[in-house]
Amino acid sequence: MEKENTTYKPTLLIVDDEERSARILKINFRDKYNILLANNGAQALTLLDHEPVSLILTDLRMPEMTGDELLEKIREKNYHIPVIIMTAYGTIENAVRSMKMGAFDYILKPLNIENLSLTIERALNYSNLLNENVRLKEQLKAYEGFRQIITINPEMKRLLDLTGQVAGAKVPVLIEGESGTGKELFARAIHYLSPRANKNFVSINCGAIPAELIESELFGHEKGAFTGASAQKKGKFELAHQGTLFLDEIGELPKNMQVKLLRAIEEQQFTRVGGTQVIHTDIRFVAATNRNLEKEVEEGNFREDLYYRLKVVNLRILPLRERKDDIPLLVKHFLKKHEKDIGKTVRDTDRKVMEMFMNYAWPGNVRELENIVMHTMLFSPGDVLVPEALPVEFVKQAGETETGEQESVPATKEELQKERKKRYEEVDKKLEYNFLDHVLKKTHGNITKAAELTGYDRRQLQNLIRKHLINPSNYKK
Ligand SMILES: Nc1ncnc2c1ncn2[C@@H]1O[C@H](COP(=O)(O)OP(=O)(O)O)[C@@H](O)[C@H]1O
Ligand SMILES: [Mg+2]
Repeated sequence: MEKENTTYKPTLLIVDDEERSARILKINFRDKYNILLANNGAQALTLLDHEPVSLILTDLRMPEMTGDELLEKIREKNYHIPVIIMTAYGTIENAVRSMKMGAFDYILKPLNIENLSLTIERALNYSNLLNENVRLKEQLKAYEGFRQIITINPEMKRLLDLTGQVAGAKVPVLIEGESGTGKELFARAIHYLSPRANKNFVSINCGAIPAELIESELFGHEKGAFTGASAQKKGKFELAHQGTLFLDEIGELPKNMQVKLLRAIEEQQFTRVGGTQVIHTDIRFVAATNRNLEKEVEEGNFREDLYYRLKVVNLRILPLRERKDDIPLLVKHFLKKHEKDIGKTVRDTDRKVMEMFMNYAWPGNVRELENIVMHTMLFSPGDVLVPEALPVEFVKQAGETETGEQESVPATKEELQKERKKRYEEVDKKLEYNFLDHVLKKTHGNITKAAELTGYDRRQLQNLIRKHLINPSNYKK
């Protein structure tokens, strides 16, 4: 069959100092596998660095480097390749020791080709399963991370696309946005979508650690480096090696630490506090801030060089009040997310509650919305979020900030034009929403009737209703 030539052949690396036995193996297995031969451990290791090997078959007794020593070196290099040990001196102790060191199996010389063939197949199957498992787990994590970012807002979707595009490259990303907008969620998405997904995602909140402890948190310290340093401690840099370090609230980092951080990032190395040993690292940096860092730079509070170093890619997450179209979907998401913890299924949101949600300014952004939804879930008697169950504080504030947005005065012609355009769009949206709300109230959610009444055709009206994420059945009598 034509196909046979193109099927994938796993590569076996055979390590044996006896040429004769290596040749016999080659003759027996070359149909099924690509065969590489090495007659000592050092040669085997060189081959491993350059060839994609699926399985290693090694003699135990060889001059210079024994099979066990080779096995140890392979594990040190972190190659997850199954190793089968061949030994003519097959004492139980030898075998047990090899197995303890992670050999897949051992077989006795003289070789029984049929047995060996079966063992090889078993080992390959096992390792395929493991690899598949690791791959699936990584995919799932990436998918989960991404799936959790709920949005229908075009600008947010653009940011999600951008996140996907830059995740794979080792470039620093600076995420800006108010507290609770989802900055950490984006940082995690970047990590789990990157080839580093199976290494650590380490985060440090620069605003939550006393200034005098930050250096040791970041770089670790040696025993006795300062009072209270009773043992050596690894810092976040060491923990994040080959992974991602999330520098949260980077704007709060004291200036003297900004210099040290910049140097460590640029040189990809650091020393622990009180230590002299230089430690090299391979880290992907993601930083976040709820301040306007550009302004902090202008005002001399944040080093310009560090700013540019961190913001190779820049994500500005919108505050919730600038993407209120996301609110209905987020509410739904949180109802589902907390269903188990709260022990209650809530299917719907009362129209009045949704109205208040849509009109509120959300200074605490998505985090605040999540908290309010949880509270309201807990205190709603049935399977609908009702106004009576809203937190009293929220109701009070929602009443006060009815129109939401805080006024800011445009400073340039461009800003004024932008603001004007935004307001027109908002008015349009609000007008449409009120229009739909009014007619659905009147027809008790009957779309056919609502269409007749307004002159829309049914499909157009339905699309409009969908755009505003209104659930007509909320209007039933
Ligand atoms: N777009 C979103 N979709 C779903 N959940 C979100 C979204 N944005 C934020 N959240 C949730 O809101 C909370 C705050 O998000 P977080 O990433 O910690 O915000 P920040 O780091 O900007 O303060 C978290 O529970 C997070 O899961
Ligand atoms: Mg945060």
